[in-house]
Amino acid sequence: MPTSPQAPDRNLALELVRVTEAAAIAANRWMGRGDKNAADGAAVNAMRVVLNSIAMDGVVVIGEGEKDEAPMLFNGEHLGDGSSPQVDIAVDPIDGTTLTALGRAGALAVIAVAPRGTMFNPGPCVYMDKIAVGPRGRGSVDINASPTENIGRLAEQLHQDIPDLTAVILDRDRHGDLIEEVRSTGARIRLITDGDVAGAISTAWPNSGADILFGVGGTPEGVIAAAALKALDGELQGKLYPRNATERQAAIDAGYDLDVVLTEDDLIKGDNCFFSATGITDGELLQGVRFHDSGCSTQSLVMRSRSGTARKIDAMHPLKKLAEFSSITF
Ligand code: FBP
Repeated sequence: MPTSPQAPDRNLALELVRVTEAAAIAANRWMGRGDKNAADGAAVNAMRVVLNSIAMDGVVVIGEGEKDEAPMLFNGEHLGDGSSPQVDIAVDPIDGTTLTALGRAGALAVIAVAPRGTMFNPGPCVYMDKIAVGPRGRGSVDINASPTENIGRLAEQLHQDIPDLTAVILDRDRHGDLIEEVRSTGARIRLITDGDVAGAISTAWPNSGADILFGVGGTPEGVIAAAALKALDGELQGKLYPRNATERQAAIDAGYDLDVVLTEDDLIKGDNCFFSATGITDGELLQGVRFHDSGCSTQSLVMRSRSGTARKIDAMHPLKKLAEFSSITF
């Protein structure tokens, strides 16, 4: 049934970009200074200030930081000016705190927002096993199948040879067998030290040179990446991944089914979610913050799932002017 045409309505993502820009600029001031928590704290504070200026009644479903005891936007915290719409918020003020602290490539400030009650709440489940592909790979992968099978099916669907494909995998000891198996298929690997939100998005972003993401990363990052992949028509599947018996029991006690495959549509229900990411340090997808004599520049990726619009936004921020009225110190 075709829906009746409507005039364009509000795209919250175009307001969220100011949130990730502010977080990225604040975080970049700490680039390479070796202090993860200071960088995270600066990004969190900047995010909170801008989020509270947005016309919305938001509640943080996914705050980031618990696993590192870092500063965070608290789960359950209300943000926005309290007016409609009512939304759920997932934040990762810095995806790549270590990258930022060490001045390495690939750190992003990210946020996803979706109508109230539509976002998956990971509860005590810190980690998730994930597989992600872009729009052309949709329908070819199954997280319960082996990496060999998934790469084979993806290659077939893309009409490419396996050695043409690149898998993105977090460089972690837990991925030793996975890396071995992917290598044995003949596919190439982009081993990333951190930042699997960008890794997941890169599978769906034209010319990024990545075809599939495999492996265990943060559950919050999985939900945030789901928002981006919904907008880009990619696919993400995840399975909660307790690291030990205590985490397993906590998840079971809280009512989570550890065998269930969570798709991007389970992680964020419906089709009206919003996503924004701003580069903190230079990366595959986005340039990082650059300071110059008149302020700084940022690059962001801003998306909405309903329309599938994806914008790259280059912004100039005259910091001296901002300092005259902004409560955030950049
Ligand atoms: P933070 O910067 O928030 O710590 O996350 C970085 C990250 O690499 C994520 O992109 C990824 O999902 C997660 O950490 C993986 O966790 P771990 O570093 O514990 O393996």
